[in-house]
Order: sequence, then structure tokens, then C-alpha cells
Amino acid sequence: MARTKIALIGAGNIGGTLAHLAASKELGDVVLFDVVEGVPQGKALDLSQCGPVEGFDAKLKGTNDYADIKGADVIIVTAGVARKPGMSRDDLLGINLKVMKSVGEGIKANAPDAFVICITNPLDAMVWALREFSGLPHNKVVGMAGVLDSARFSSFLAEEFGVSVQDVTSFVLGGHGDTMVPVVEYSTVAGIPIPDLIKMGWSTKERIDAIVQRTRSGGGEIVALLKTGSAFYAPATSAIAMAESYLKDKKRVLPAAVHLTGQYGVDNLYVGVPVVIGAGGVEKIVEIELSDEAKANLQVSVEAVKELLVACKAIDGSLA
Ligand code: APR
Repeated sequence: MARTKIALIGAGNIGGTLAHLAASKELGDVVLFDVVEGVPQGKALDLSQCGPVEGFDAKLKGTNDYADIKGADVIIVTAGVARKPGMSRDDLLGINLKVMKSVGEGIKANAPDAFVICITNPLDAMVWALREFSGLPHNKVVGMAGVLDSARFSSFLAEEFGVSVQDVTSFVLGGHGDTMVPVVEYSTVAGIPIPDLIKMGWSTKERIDAIVQRTRSGGGEIVALLKTGSAFYAPATSAIAMAESYLKDKKRVLPAAVHLTGQYGVDNLYVGVPVVIGAGGVEKIVEIELSDEAKANLQVSVEAVKELLVACKAIDGSLA
């Protein structure tokens, strides 16, 4: 049986980390694509030399030619410009929209059966545009944000409660950005919801509110520290979890930016919600009951995503 093929569009910080993770987990052979000549080839060669040390069998190839992604089973898109200090995700819109157009066309022509995971920011707008430009079915094009945002939330919560990250489950809904909605009632330690943990004296509402705020600006906190780019280890590992659920038909329940058709009162937009990811792509959208506060926050987030789409349509008339 031929090995699975994973194409990574963008061979920058996240792309390189994705390639390393995909190869070391033996998810399949890896093709790294970038517009810059030499970088994908160099990274692929360097990473293939990890194989003998780590003991993985995966072929890695760097390329500047979309023909090399032909037949890819999974495509993870990080192509574009990363956020610099002082730049909001939304500032990236104009530049990265053009990139999505070329990537979408490359995917359409070479790998229309792939499961596509978009990471490029501003996420909710870029994944929508990528779907439009590629013409792939909506259930095969998703955005990675929720796994990362909930990982950030979980890691802060585990630190607060002094427990293993393995026992923390957290949910984050909405757009990837300052309006994201960490849902406290559905976040637990070993099944005990946070509001109960507050009653038990494990933390206070004020401290949890501060953690929610830190989660919302979690990406910016890292940008401010790195100064020359944005987070890449956790974004890469989050996308790999989604790719693995698809390739192994694990049917994991993961938060992802997906195309909504009325769920949560949202129609024809990509917004982060819990979904089941299996061999069919997005197999189910999980519609959980939200508190009035979470509903109102989600609405703010949805409005922010809508504004981005209006801006996209104004920039590229073919999206209107
Ligand atoms: N086609 C393919 N690759 C491209 C294109 C394009 N049209 N335009 C730019 N690239 C490549 C760049 O050459 C670079 O190698 O995309 C890569 C982006 O890598 P980095 O700048 O290192 O950015 P990274 O940290 O990987 O983040 C990528 O993910 O989290 C988001 O905000 C982040 O949008 C950014 C993306």
C-alpha cells in the first residue's frame, strides 16, 4: 500500500515544525512547498537526516512546484506572512488573501481530494477564502485555531490548579482572535467543571477571568516575546492532531473553524466550534448549549469574522 502523502504549503517556522512532527510520527511522506527557492529543499534534506537518528521512515521532499503536491491526502497551509509585533491578525488580511488565492488554485489543480487544514491568519477569513478559491467541499476544508486556543487555556488552567495537563479539558469557541470565547462551564479537571472548582476553593472567579483574558491574547503574548515572528511549536502540533484524526479515522472531538450552515445561529461562515474529525473530514458539528453570556460573546466573535469577510470581498471582487 502506498504511503499517505502530506503536503505542507509554506515551509517557514510552522511548516518546518509540521514536517518534523509528521515525519517523526510516521504519518506519511512529506512534501514541503514554498515560493522561496531553496528553503523547502534545505529543510526537507535536513529533516530527512533526522530519520536515521529518530528511526522514522518517511520521505521528505522540498519543492517550488505545485505539481509535487499531486495526490496529497492531507494539506496543511501556513503560507503567508506571520504577525509582527504591533500588527494585528487583521492587518495581515490583504497580503495573505492573495496568498490564499494562489494556494487555493494550486490545491484545486493538484489535490482536490485532500483534507485541507488552514493555519494562515487571520484564520477564520483565510480558511473561508481558501475554500472559495479551491472549490473543495466544505467538510474537507477546516481552520486550525480551537485546538491551539484550548491548549493554551488548558495549559494555564493546569498551572493554576497544580494538576496534570492531561486531566484538563477546555473548550474555546468562536473566531481566532481577541474575540474568541473560552467556555468556562465546559472546561473541566477530570470532569469537574471550573465553576464547581471555584466553589471548592481551587481558584477564584477573578483568577479564572484573568486566565480567560490571557488565553484570548495568548498569540500576542508570544509575538511580543519573540519579536521576529509568531508562535509555531503549539500551532504545528495542534494541526498535526487534526491531521492524525482524519488519517486514522479517530473521530476525535476537536474545536475547529468549520463552515456553519445554521448551527449556533450562524450561516455560511467559518467559525470555531467543536466537531468530529474522521475519514469523512468534518463528520459532525457538535452544537452545545451555551449560557447567555457565552452566546453574547460568540455573537461578538461572529460579527468580527463577518467584518473580515466584508473586507476580503472588497479586496477581491471574485469572492463577492
Ligand atoms: N505560497 C507558498 N508559500 C508562501 C507564499 C505563497 N504564495 N507566500 C509566502 N509563503 C511562505 C513564506 O516564504 C514562508 O516560508 O510562507 C512561509 C511562512 O512562514 P513564516 O513566515 O515562518 O510564518 P509561520 O510562523 O510559519 O506562520 C505562518 O501561520 O499562525 C499563522 O499568523 C501566522 O499567517 C501566519 C502563518
